Amino acid sequence: MAVNAIEHPLIAHKIALLRQAGISTKQFRELANEVATLLTYEACRNLPLQVCFIDGWQGEPIKAQMLSGKKLTVVPILRAGLGMLDGVLRLVPNAKVSVVGLYRDEETLNPVAYFDKIINNVDQRTALIIDPMLATGGTLLATIDLLKQKGCKKIIGLFLVASPEGLQRVSALHPEVELFIGAIDDCLNDQGYILPGLGDAGDKIFGTK
Ligand code: URA
Repeated sequence: MAVNAIEHPLIAHKIALLRQAGISTKQFRELANEVATLLTYEACRNLPLQVCFIDGWQGEPIKAQMLSGKKLTVVPILRAGLGMLDGVLRLVPNAKVSVVGLYRDEETLNPVAYFDKIINNVDQRTALIIDPMLATGGTLLATIDLLKQKGCKKIIGLFLVASPEGLQRVSALHPEVELFIGAIDDCLNDQGYILPGLGDAGDKIFGTK
């Protein structure tokens, strides 16, 4: 299944706290990162392992399993995606980070990439896109296109909250991209905000409102 709505009491509880009016910047940041850690745990469930031999505590080689291949690159979408980065890196501390920045063209309303620093060998890595909100899906689609243009073959997305409209749009165009979601909400309003949602996640993470 490409859309994984993670049903876990800890995630449900932390997302309920994130929804509270008047939440402080500190608390929003902490909770966003905690949910990001829990989503990362779920998203890494199917990473490939390889058998290896390591020196065990008894002084003899023992058979063990470790992650295989070039592993992950985490792709925070500026700016709100940075608010999940620490939480993801807590579980995959060696992952390389590929940052993407997009703005919305006033005329076409399409997202345009103004910044990208994607790791060179992204064709050999799994990309873990992070953004708190999957609203219309426009930003995610642009990021997926960018990664695919650079040869990335395996893409996973982590979102705290998603709209049904955004999920449907992204899965119709990229059914192989796996999405891990903390909560699927009711709908989008006419300004593109998710309801009931979290409000403006970027403002809450950066304390700009
Ligand atoms: N971005 C946000 O920060 N919040 C939404 O509800 C939608 C997009």
